[in-house]
Amino acid sequence: MIKIGLLGFGTVGSGVYEIIEKEKNNFRTLLGEEIEISKILVSDLNKKRNVNLPPTLITDNPYEILNAPDIDIIVEAIGGVKHAYKYVTLALENDKHVVTANKAIVAKYMDELLALAEKKGKGFLFEASVGGGIPIIKSLKQNIRINKITQIKGILNGTTNFILSKMTDENLSFNEALELARKLGYAEADPTDDIEGYDVARKLSILSSIAFKTKTNYNNIMCRGINSISKLDISMFKKLSLKVKLIGNAVISDNFFIDKEFSASVEPILVNENSTFASVNDAFNIVSLMGDTVGEQHFYGHGAGKNSTANAVVSDILDLISGEYKFSKLIENTITIPAGVKLFKGKYYLRVAPASKTQIPKIFNLLNKNDIKYEIISINEDLILLTELISADTMEHFIKQLKLSHDNYCYLRIEGKIESKKYAEVLS
Ligand code: NAP
Ligand code: HSE
Repeated sequence: MIKIGLLGFGTVGSGVYEIIEKEKNNFRTLLGEEIEISKILVSDLNKKRNVNLPPTLITDNPYEILNAPDIDIIVEAIGGVKHAYKYVTLALENDKHVVTANKAIVAKYMDELLALAEKKGKGFLFEASVGGGIPIIKSLKQNIRINKITQIKGILNGTTNFILSKMTDENLSFNEALELARKLGYAEADPTDDIEGYDVARKLSILSSIAFKTKTNYNNIMCRGINSISKLDISMFKKLSLKVKLIGNAVISDNFFIDKEFSASVEPILVNENSTFASVNDAFNIVSLMGDTVGEQHFYGHGAGKNSTANAVVSDILDLISGEYKFSKLIENTITIPAGVKLFKGKYYLRVAPASKTQIPKIFNLLNKNDIKYEIISINEDLILLTELISADTMEHFIKQLKLSHDNYCYLRIEGKIESKKYAEVLS
């Protein structure tokens, strides 16, 4: 009998419980052993729950689970950093395997927790921390056995992709769409992490650390969220046959292992409306990996929510039980590499809402000073323009010099081409 201690019984934890209850007999046949959730940690014992749990199964005392000698696997699904890190560390120290869905602790402590697990001869798996139900961590670990990965790009947050889809396709306001995403269990306890891109920065940093075998620091990743995008922007994107997506992008130079040139960003990007990324809607995620041998691969699926995330957690549990968790050392270099945006370039969409018309000449001066060529699309209320191809460094430098409050502008890099017909229509 394999005994599991479940920390947390919210969206993810309850999903894990339900799958294990439902598939118990299948798992017995598959593994030749029974799996049982023997204790569940919650913070509020009196909370009304959708699933009927025997009162003896739940506790608000983490040590009843973490110090129980008969528990083999700890599943952490409480979220946050402080308690989760403490409990996961203690679980490994107490010779238990650990599965977590918590990208915040994985992004911050991945190297340390993997080293502790290795020392203890235990598994520390975190498939659910990136891409919900997409088996991206496992696929990446398999990929790096043969390939040098040079780029990781993805729509990695279900909540923001859901919000942008609802704003674009159903004309919902930002707040209406966010409220819906929260109800569906997609958003973090504090949705700021979703909206401002920090959740994607953590996921990108986890993938980059594995792909480039070097610990990357999510705090160094340039990170911009989706809250500057207005209804006016969305209608302009439609006219240009473009769609906005919050994209995490990490690239290394050809000589990365010598020059350590690494660019990474989380930002809303404009993609052609008939591109693969544009077709990823609602809470779906996509990850693109570029390998030197295999070429480009796309991984697509549900990026958030109860069943898909719980599926990833249970899959890790099954791997632990069947012994399929011993991969070669994941992080070879313990130095953390700084991330810039030097390797990115593109045309940019820029909307500025000048506080007064007098600011417009200053904006044009600044564009000229930075040698940024542009075409004006609209100058009615807001100034909207498209730049020529420039480096991301140039654009970031220009934006800093603008010295405007964040509510007053929106700028997005464009990937792919704008059809000249569309361009002409918008300009006419
Ligand atoms: P959630 O619905 O808020 O559930 C959290 C659960 O943990 C609740 O049962 C809560 O107890 C319990 N809890 C929280 N802090 C605790 C503490 N200090 N001590 C004891 N129990 C505590 O969260 P969730 O959406 O399931 O997310 C859990 C983790 O999975 C997070 O790290 C999240 O980032 C990650 N994740 C979520 C999704 C998703 O789609 N939701 C997808 C991938 C990864 P009560 O029930 O008593 O309040
Ligand atoms: N809040 C996260 C998202 C959950 O919306 O993608 C899945 O990691």
